[in-house]
Amino acid sequence: MKNVVCLISGRGSNLEALLDAAAREQWEHTLRARIAGVISNRPGAAGLGIAAARGLPTQVIDHRQHTSRDSFDAALMQAVDALRPELVVLAGFMRVLTAAFVDRYAGRMINVHPSLLPAFPGLATHRQALAAGVRVHGATVHFVSHDLDGGAIIGQAAVPVHADDTEETLAARVLAQEHVLLPRCVRLVLQGAVRWHQGRTVELDVAGESLALFGA
Ligand code: GAR
Repeated sequence: MKNVVCLISGRGSNLEALLDAAAREQWEHTLRARIAGVISNRPGAAGLGIAAARGLPTQVIDHRQHTSRDSFDAALMQAVDALRPELVVLAGFMRVLTAAFVDRYAGRMINVHPSLLPAFPGLATHRQALAAGVRVHGATVHFVSHDLDGGAIIGQAAVPVHADDTEETLAARVLAQEHVLLPRCVRLVLQGAVRWHQGRTVELDVAGESLALFGA
């Protein structure tokens, strides 16, 4: 069985979408894969409740209990490794990871980011998009590399930006697409249809499934 470990920091809606897809598509049978555990760096993360309600093991590695990034990442690595991950999914995980952590899971750690990278890395991506006046915005799922939000892209979902959009309305439109994009990308990586090779994303056989989504 391939274990997927999810790291979260808050609400957990992407985690929920992933769990829904795994159940709907019966990943345990079709992919021999399961979400093996959920780890949050915040004790109050609502996503922990979502995971617990489905009987998943959860754990908190509170970054505030650590005096350095190295010490936090070492504790996180220990917790992740204990779950024997095939794939680590950053599903709304809001901590920058050290090089040692990134190296350990090179090619088997992916992140969902709320912009069409390489545009708008970092935080407040919807505010950045509105300020830039772009007409198209979206989300990206990518392998995690040493560059913040800069790893090889797996898939992207685009949505229109409306003239009367606020950060909230735009965020909601993007989030709905994240919930489609992330499970699809996770599944394709678990299937081996998409993989990371020397820092690049290699598509082997996505069987006609698009990694470029267009939402309304
Ligand atoms: C999502 O929009 C995700 O793309 C973003 O945080 C939100 C988490 O929501 N992630 C990042 O900004 C990572 N840099 P969720 O907890 O409801 O999934």
